Amino acid sequence: MTAPAPVLTIDGPSGAGKGTVSRIVAARLGWHYLDSGALYRAVGVAASWADLDLSDPAALVRCTRDTSIDFREGEGGAGLRVLVNGTDATDELRLETTGALASAIAAIPEVRAALTERQRAFRRAPGLVADGRDMGTVIFPDATAKVFLTASAEERALRRHNQLKDKGVSVTFADLLREILARDARDAQRAVAPLRPADDAVLIDTTGLSIEAVVECVLALLPGRTA
Ligand code: DC
Repeated sequence: MTAPAPVLTIDGPSGAGKGTVSRIVAARLGWHYLDSGALYRAVGVAASWADLDLSDPAALVRCTRDTSIDFREGEGGAGLRVLVNGTDATDELRLETTGALASAIAAIPEVRAALTERQRAFRRAPGLVADGRDMGTVIFPDATAKVFLTASAEERALRRHNQLKDKGVSVTFADLLREILARDARDAQRAVAPLRPADDAVLIDTTGLSIEAVVECVLALLPGRTA
């Protein structure tokens, strides 16, 4: 039997820089990339398109199983696009409201179970960088290396505020901070796969660190590589 492809898991709360760091690390290694949050967001978008009742777990589980989610490289360096049931939903996926919806749906055990195999299917040679909340604890417990990225809630709210300002979206820092704290609490307190570092994960606090510094720290964790 051939050994499974190596996996590097990068977990942590929203806004800790997981997405940016994971994408750069995957590109540097020439590995595949799994944005697991996008899967939960995609189910949230599909549920809202279908006008599903969020208090009906059975309908949400059916929706999870029936929703097709495809990642495509965008034209002209537009980055990764996400197609939900064949429609490009990339912009809708990034909305704060979609993140909150995803966080609520992600608390349903059967929804998580319905996405488990889809996530594991991303593990292909030459390797995978998997970004999420439970990559190291539940989805890839045998990962080659595990990272848990954190940053203070204030720093995460500030980063998000700057990102949104650049896009011309106006939201107050106080509202963002409140949303981030509420989402952290929900993700950490849910009964299934709560947000927590794997016992064998390396914790990196990114508060005050540059993206490049974090990327170097993460790459140095892989066997055979030094920073
Ligand atoms: O990483 P993100 O902000 O795109 O994730 C959106 C929500 O999806 C997050 O609040 C919790 C949920 N999620 C999860 O429960 N497990 C994952 N592996 C990834 C995301």
